[in-house]
Amino acid sequence: MSGPLHTQLCDKLGIEYPVVAFTHCKDVAVAVINAGGFAVLGEAMHTPDQIAADIKWIRDRIGGKPFGIDLVLPASVPEEKTVEELLAMIPRTHWDFEQKIKDKYEVPAPKEVPNLHQWGGLDHKRALAQLDVVFDERVPVFASGLGSPQFLLDRAHQLGMQVWGLVGKPRQAKKQVDAGTDVIIAQGYDAAGHTGNIGTFSIVPQVVDIARGSKTAVIAAGGVTTGRHLAAALALGAAGVWTGSLWLASRESDVNLQLKERLIECETDDTMYSNCISGYTMRTTRCPWHDEWNSDAAPEVLKPPLQMMLSANYIQGSLDYQRKDLMTEAAGQGIHYVTEMKPARQIISDLVDEAFDVFDRFAAD
Ligand SMILES: Cc1cc2nc3c(=O)[nH]c(=O)nc-3n(C[C@H](O)[C@H](O)[C@H](O)COP(=O)(O)O)c2cc1C
Repeated sequence: MSGPLHTQLCDKLGIEYPVVAFTHCKDVAVAVINAGGFAVLGEAMHTPDQIAADIKWIRDRIGGKPFGIDLVLPASVPEEKTVEELLAMIPRTHWDFEQKIKDKYEVPAPKEVPNLHQWGGLDHKRALAQLDVVFDERVPVFASGLGSPQFLLDRAHQLGMQVWGLVGKPRQAKKQVDAGTDVIIAQGYDAAGHTGNIGTFSIVPQVVDIARGSKTAVIAAGGVTTGRHLAAALALGAAGVWTGSLWLASRESDVNLQLKERLIECETDDTMYSNCISGYTMRTTRCPWHDEWNSDAAPEVLKPPLQMMLSANYIQGSLDYQRKDLMTEAAGQGIHYVTEMKPARQIISDLVDEAFDVFDRFAAD
């Protein structure tokens, strides 16, 4: 197959369109893969058993097509700590501030232990146990959003797996190209979730230049929610796009309905770039938690993983009790274009049709 949307990424994966969905929802992943795109399932919040079950679930539904799993491998967290030990490291002042926020906004206590307590970013031991499953299952693509996957390249390649790494700075890209990472996701400031401070339009061509002449493909992330973005990413030299926010309100997505409504209402400037959720800089939708941590009364934000543990009850309580006024979610600046709950297949076809229109327009001029 040829045409402007047929790229090096399509060849590397045997896919039709150079569109990658990052999602936490298995149904979205399957729908995107079966619609001709590629999907990477975020499993950092899951136990090894849950990860193994999710891999099987996906495999049963995609007829041998490839898929990916994403985990986090942060360097700056402890080797091994129990949840209780980590919670005990949070200073009293910070618990008092958290309580003040919960009292002020009547934040309900979560129904169950917060999901964040299983996060692979809490310590190395958790992350490595999650990683073992990915190796045992020989998942076709392993992607790491936070932290560098260089140390596992040899083992992954021996098993026939690809390793993808997300970067926000040119110097990180250089290291990953030198190490032989298969695909680099050049992610800009516009992006949802943990992200650096360089804009998508600036980081993508720089990383493309760094990878030129190597076997590493570069794909663009951060603010991609339309076919015009897809065409622009290819024009910048990327071999495809990596998208997150685009899928949050999709029909298949398991995101809380109230949260989907909030995301559809959100404008670009309703997203905040702050470290108050996890201790790392992160783009999420604005909520009272941000406002309070921006106030003069706020103590200093804690280092990872402690800030994430401090936020956990607020976040889980807002979700468990459907409190739209309190909820927050990772969302990128492209959220402006997420305006309805479309099926994933339609999202792909709208993106692709619009990108083709752009290329047709150029060809006609
Ligand atoms: C709800 C949500 C959760 C995310 N969690 C992770 C994560 O656990 N690991 C990761 O590598 N990236 C995570 N990301 C970031 C995405 O991988 C992706 O880089 C980002 O969404 C791209 O920007 P966009 O949302 O503007 O498309 C998350 C994104 C969203 C929307």
